[in-house]
Amino acid sequence: MTRYEFLKSAGFTGASLMALLSCVKTDDSYVEALVQNPDGTTSTGSSGATGTTGTTGNGAVTTADKSFFISNEALNKLTAKVKIDLPSATYSKLKTVGGYVIVSNTYVVALSKTGKFIAAKVTCSHEPKKRIVYSNEEWYCTEHGARFSLAGKGLNSNGRKGLTIYNTATDGNTLIIY
Ligand code: FES
Repeated sequence: MTRYEFLKSAGFTGASLMALLSCVKTDDSYVEALVQNPDGTTSTGSSGATGTTGTTGNGAVTTADKSFFISNEALNKLTAKVKIDLPSATYSKLKTVGGYVIVSNTYVVALSKTGKFIAAKVTCSHEPKKRIVYSNEEWYCTEHGARFSLAGKGLNSNGRKGLTIYNTATDGNTLIIY
């Protein structure tokens, strides 16, 4: 019986199983090849999740989509309102789809489901509260619940005045809002 089979038979599943398996010695090649699929099942070998390529096994984007990147030369031609150093730990949440950060107390920047960086004003149009966040492919105000599309269109009565949206561009290292 392998360590994997033993742990499964002992009742370990999901995250707890994966946590235990991550503690194995590097020479345990069977366990090293074990991957957890997006649907929660596990498999071995080369099939299943492909975390290093930025997609899940079903093709959904999990990290920034490189097809949106432009050259450093093209980036430098744009007039940036603000520049973000993507490798910096300060912006580590932008490495994962659904993550967002507040920049300069003015912008909310997120990595959308499509793998594209998006940006909006952090100040709500309902009242001047800096409470806009990115949530479920929308901009959302945590103060009174205003909802806005990613294009800034109001989706409920508190959001009826819309939200200011900004352009973004990146070469993969620097992200600019312009
Ligand atoms: S301040 Fe944003 S909904 Fe009221």
